[in-house]
Amino acid sequence: QRRPLIAGNWKMNCLRTDGLALARGLSDRAKAKGDLACDILVCPPATLISDVAGVTAKSAVKVGGQDCHVAVSGAHTGDIAAPMLADIGATHVLVGHSERRADHGESSTVIRQKTMAAHDAGLIAVVCVGETEQERDLGATLAVVNGQIAVSVPDEATAENTVIAYEPVWAIGTGRTASVDEVAEVHAAIRAGLTARFDDGDKFRILYGGSVKPSNAAELLSVPDVDGALVGGASLKVDDFWKIIESCA
Ligand code: 13P
Repeated sequence: QRRPLIAGNWKMNCLRTDGLALARGLSDRAKAKGDLACDILVCPPATLISDVAGVTAKSAVKVGGQDCHVAVSGAHTGDIAAPMLADIGATHVLVGHSERRADHGESSTVIRQKTMAAHDAGLIAVVCVGETEQERDLGATLAVVNGQIAVSVPDEATAENTVIAYEPVWAIGTGRTASVDEVAEVHAAIRAGLTARFDDGDKFRILYGGSVKPSNAAELLSVPDVDGALVGGASLKVDDFWKIIESCA
């Protein structure tokens, strides 16, 4: 009953020409296809959100930011507030991506504040969580992931305004994917935590991310409680991303 979401995280890639061609390619295919089996989201770098939103406006392709600040405005040089993202056509924002946690020292507490800022701006927050290789080797995966969700996702969150993305850090950009069994175990644990805490916990979408590509998408998307994918590298090519979209049953 949960409609899958296939999300592309372009990260710090694409100048205007490439980014707009990618957006146009996706929106043209989405228009040609008509009825889709999933929702589609692209998260371009901030420089391109406005133009990409213009290109995709009449299609089913939604646009999101990759991060937002906790405040609505103020003296925060270089940061972008959630209402600014909404103002230029974004409907979603990624928060707590492992690259933000690692490169910018973002804690789960800050990520909760960002999630609340996103909600206040009317955006759907895609809250990212995932264990490092070391944490997995220590057998701490479920504790780490559920601990991140417990703090990063605010009590007021609903399945309407919040999506969870499970991205094992060791699977991001490495070509190594978690096995079907590993994904199933973590997603089931996340689902159990959500249903215990939220009235609509069974309705939250839980995405898998980490080296998702056309060749493994169908298998990963068939795992119980996998309600879509958060795709990095393979979202930068129209053909690859479209194949992943078409992998939704
Ligand atoms: P890759 O698909 O390149 O492994 O990246 C995953 C990711 O971090 C998406 O947010």
